[in-house]
Amino acid sequence: MARYTGIIARYREWLPIADDARIVTLGEGDTPLIRLDRLTKTTGRDVTIYVKFEGLNPTGSFKDRGMCFAVTKAVEAGSQALICASTGNTSASAAAYAARAGLAAFVLIPEGKIALGKLSQAMIHGAVVVQIQGNFDAGMKLVKEIAATTPVTLVNSVNPYRLQGQKTAAFEVVDALGFAPNYHYLPVGNAGNITAHWFGYQDYARQGRCAMPKLVGFQAAGAAPFVSGKMVDDPETIATAIRIGHPQSWSLAQSAKEATGGWFGAIDDAEILVTQKLLAREEGIFCEPASAVSVAGALHDLRAGRIEDGATVVCTVTGHGLKDPDVAIRQGGPTELLTVTPTLSAVRAIILDRTG
Ligand code: F0G
Repeated sequence: MARYTGIIARYREWLPIADDARIVTLGEGDTPLIRLDRLTKTTGRDVTIYVKFEGLNPTGSFKDRGMCFAVTKAVEAGSQALICASTGNTSASAAAYAARAGLAAFVLIPEGKIALGKLSQAMIHGAVVVQIQGNFDAGMKLVKEIAATTPVTLVNSVNPYRLQGQKTAAFEVVDALGFAPNYHYLPVGNAGNITAHWFGYQDYARQGRCAMPKLVGFQAAGAAPFVSGKMVDDPETIATAIRIGHPQSWSLAQSAKEATGGWFGAIDDAEILVTQKLLAREEGIFCEPASAVSVAGALHDLRAGRIEDGATVVCTVTGHGLKDPDVAIRQGGPTELLTVTPTLSAVRAIILDRTG
């Protein structure tokens, strides 16, 4: 088998790219589709649930698919610098792909509201990190204005190439299953990814490779404009990745929902944390809080009877848990980190206590 070299090589015929283009790749994509056996059993329902674990991309989130393509196109256009606003993952990915391509990267992040792992990524890859005293939506407004007047390429998902790259996740799901799921659940923030999945499934459906799944978007309850039907000015949630009140792909995501017969829902922070822990403890899948929202949504809808028996459900788990070590450690609680003297008796006492 040939060495895997990323989404452009694998799905070239579905992407607008010249034959002689210089491809900027870190081997993104080809992420596993993991069946949730233990969690599915707890629902008591006859359904099959898979996680598409996008946290296993090179920088630990699904953004790498879109960034690979956006940066490849930026290089093709002769760009020297990238810019984005970010809740963290886009900045990590932009920083890495910029380094790979030899471009400068400028990233605007909300001060104090980005997970530690993501900040460390942007910094180590050499991006110019600008913290703004405002949220993602404020940063987004700024970078759009700057990109319109300065020679820098905007690599947020308003850049159409981002969505083209990200649609390859839908291709992989169909290629792995041999068909499309009945339902595909995604966490929604800026709404680029649900739109990208709609594009991907449409491409395959047009060629008769699959039927259209219902696209279901879930948000954090404190940042849920798609559920309330109006923009939110002060979004707040522990899932900082999706702490967004003014999603850029508003109408495209609405169309994705309507055209596929899907819906939007919201999960509160307590349930997000419970689901993150469940995935880690019952299935061995460590994701960041925002990513647990898709699985929480599917479990919620299963219990509510919104999904029929026999259905196949795919939940995109967007980012790796190592992105946000602070939340993970806080999830543990004080009794789970034990300190003892380095003696046989002390360690044995703990084991006997826990297995007895
Ligand atoms: N999950 C994670 C882990 C994310 O980082 C994001 C978005 C989403 C879900 C939502 O995807 O915006 O396409 O609806 N993060 C962006 C960022 C906003 O800056 O990293 P979306």
